[in-house]
Amino acid sequence: MQVLRSVNELRAWRAGVERVAFVPTMGYLHEGHLELLREARRRVPDGALALSIFVNPTQFNDPRDLLAYPRDEAGDLAKAASVGVDLVFCPSDASELYPPGASTWIEVEGLDRHLCGATRPGHFRGVCTIVGKLLALLRPHVAVFGEKDFQQLAIIRRMHRDLMLDGEIVGAPIVRERDGLAMSSRNARLSSAARGEALAIPQLLARVRERFAAGVRETSELLEQAETLLSPGRVDYVSLVDAADLQPRERVEAPALVAVAVFFGGVRLIDNTLLVP
Ligand code: PAJ
Repeated sequence: MQVLRSVNELRAWRAGVERVAFVPTMGYLHEGHLELLREARRRVPDGALALSIFVNPTQFNDPRDLLAYPRDEAGDLAKAASVGVDLVFCPSDASELYPPGASTWIEVEGLDRHLCGATRPGHFRGVCTIVGKLLALLRPHVAVFGEKDFQQLAIIRRMHRDLMLDGEIVGAPIVRERDGLAMSSRNARLSSAARGEALAIPQLLARVRERFAAGVRETSELLEQAETLLSPGRVDYVSLVDAADLQPRERVEAPALVAVAVFFGGVRLIDNTLLVP
C-alpha cells in the first residue's frame, strides 16, 4: 500500500494505473468506511483501490467542529491495509488541495435547500468543491459514497452528472452498531451518557418505519412526537422529504426520506431511513 502526500505524486501515480475505484473520507475510519472500500473493490476487482483521507476545512461551518474532528492516521492506515487498499492519499497540508489564492467553488443549487443544506450554510459547497477536485485528480471508474449522508450522495450525483464527469457514483447502505446507532467518526466524541441518549435516533426511525408499514402516509402522523422522542438531544432538524428532489412533502406518495440531525452532548449526529410506498 502506497501513501502519497502531494498532488504531484498523486498525478504521477494516476498516470501509471488503468482503472481506479475510489472512496473519499475524512479519516478516523470505521466499519462504515471499510464497507465502502469493500464495495469499491467488488466493483473494480482488477483496478487500483484508492482512499483519500482529508479533513476538508471548507465544509466545516463551525470552526470548533473542525478542531474537534477526530484523527488517527496510524490506525486508519492499518485499517486501509486490512481491506486491500492500494493507494492512500493523505495530503500533507490543506494547501495541497487549496493552493494560495484558490477561489473556485462548486455549488449545486436546489438540492441543498433543506436538511443539512439549510442548517449548515456553505457545507455542501465545501463538499462539492473538494469531491470535484478529487474526482478530477483520480478520474475513478467508480467512486463510492454512503447513504448515511443521503443528501451529500444526491448532491454529488447531480454534480457528477452536470459536470459530465467520467465514471460512476455508487451509493452504499448505512452500516450500524449492534444497537442500531449509525456508525460515524463523530461517535468517538460522545460521552457514555450521550452515547446512550443517541439511541433515540434509531428508535425514532424504527417507529417511523413501523407506522409506515402499518399504512400511515401523512408526514404529520409519521413524525408525530418525533421531537419529544429525540428530546434528550437538541434537534437540528427532523424532516420528511421526497427522496429524489429532497423537498418537504406532507404525504408519502413516492419514495421519501426521513432524515434527522440531532446534537447529543454537543456532537451533531445524522441518520435517515427511506420509505418506499
Ligand atoms: P466522512 O464523514 O469521513 O465519510 C466518508 C464516506 O463514508 C461518506 O460517503 C459517508 O457517507 C460514508 N459513511 C460514513 N458513515 C457511514 C456509515 N455508518 N455507513 C455507510 N457509509 C458511511 O462524508 C465525508 O467524509 C466528506 O464529506 C467527504 C465526502 C470525504 C468530502 O470531504
